[in-house]
Amino acid sequence: KTAMVYQATASAPVNIACIKYWGKRDTKLILPTNSSLSVTLSQDHLRSTTTSRADPSFSKDRLWLNGKEEEIVAPGRLATCIAELKKLRKELVEDKDESAPKVIADSILPLFALLKMIIQLSTVPVHIASFNNFPTAAGLASSASGFAALVSSLAALYALPCSPSTLSLIARQGSGSACRSLFGGYVAWEQGVLDDGSDSLAVEVAPRSHWPEMHALICVVSDDKKGTSSTSGMQRTVQTSELLQHRIKHVVPKRMKEIEAAIKAKDFDAFAKVTMADSNQFHAVALDTEPPIFYMNDVSRSIIALIVEYNRVAIEKTGKRKAAYTYDAGPNAVIYTLQENVKEIVELIVKYFPQKDGFKDPFQLFAGGSVGEG
Ligand code: PMV
Repeated sequence: KTAMVYQATASAPVNIACIKYWGKRDTKLILPTNSSLSVTLSQDHLRSTTTSRADPSFSKDRLWLNGKEEEIVAPGRLATCIAELKKLRKELVEDKDESAPKVIADSILPLFALLKMIIQLSTVPVHIASFNNFPTAAGLASSASGFAALVSSLAALYALPCSPSTLSLIARQGSGSACRSLFGGYVAWEQGVLDDGSDSLAVEVAPRSHWPEMHALICVVSDDKKGTSSTSGMQRTVQTSELLQHRIKHVVPKRMKEIEAAIKAKDFDAFAKVTMADSNQFHAVALDTEPPIFYMNDVSRSIIALIVEYNRVAIEKTGKRKAAYTYDAGPNAVIYTLQENVKEIVELIVKYFPQKDGFKDPFQLFAGGSVGEG
């Protein structure tokens, strides 16, 4: 068979929120109850890479995650993202641009086998293969990088002339936090006010180059699958937590302004203060949920104690914090710090959290890295 095959590969890193997204006001469109802000990582350790291929000989859309096929069932998230991108391809390119590439395929009717058909690319089934180079669904933001890579690879396949913010509208419908992985550096997800979600998108606060000294150390406390998924956890919190309502109205709007100002001024002390406060409050609303949700474990809490003590000494000496912990929906710690403190903090962690067989190379344990390009 001689059919034109189109293929594109894209890769996206995880992002780790400093101001946490927790709660949906629309569960289908994935519209959040508050804005959030994150840092996109650059390290090769925490990335999803996705290849999409359109081939007229395929019978339907299919997707494999780490080699295992996942069902694409409408109106699920995967099906929604794929359908949205096909729609954009149709609207933005094929309807307007006559020169848009079309797929030339063999006729499907044997009698006309020599006739070639011209098919619009948006109607051709796609096969998608996605790989995470780190544990999936262990609170390491795999859905964020996964949906960002999926959307980016289909956007490349369809040659969509869309900005990252426009693509973030689609990635958001796969997994809320995925919208922020369309950008590198420091990224805000503006919650938006419209019911159709068209203003609930990611915007760049500052590029990576603005503050290249910023580093994130990922301490993998456990890479087991997490207990309560973010989807069901959020739903329960929205239904039962009074503290969440206080957070949405009175806390997050102020913190969004504070952290944006801290990033713009490269004020690590202010960045660290608000990042840790927001991690604490996110875990407090999880605890305030009925029944309560615990994402951190004893090791997570011991790492908090270590960073608090490390900062206490730093504040005594210089008046400023040197590290910030943050935890998502799992026990793994992310420690933000500036380049000059990375070695010291890794050595501290290795000292206070010795491993039974010892660390061969402590730096191997940390999927740490500078802030990424997205
Ligand atoms: O995008 P989701 O559904 O995986 O939710 C992510 C929620 C947190 O990671 C806990 C916070 C955030 O803003 O990333």
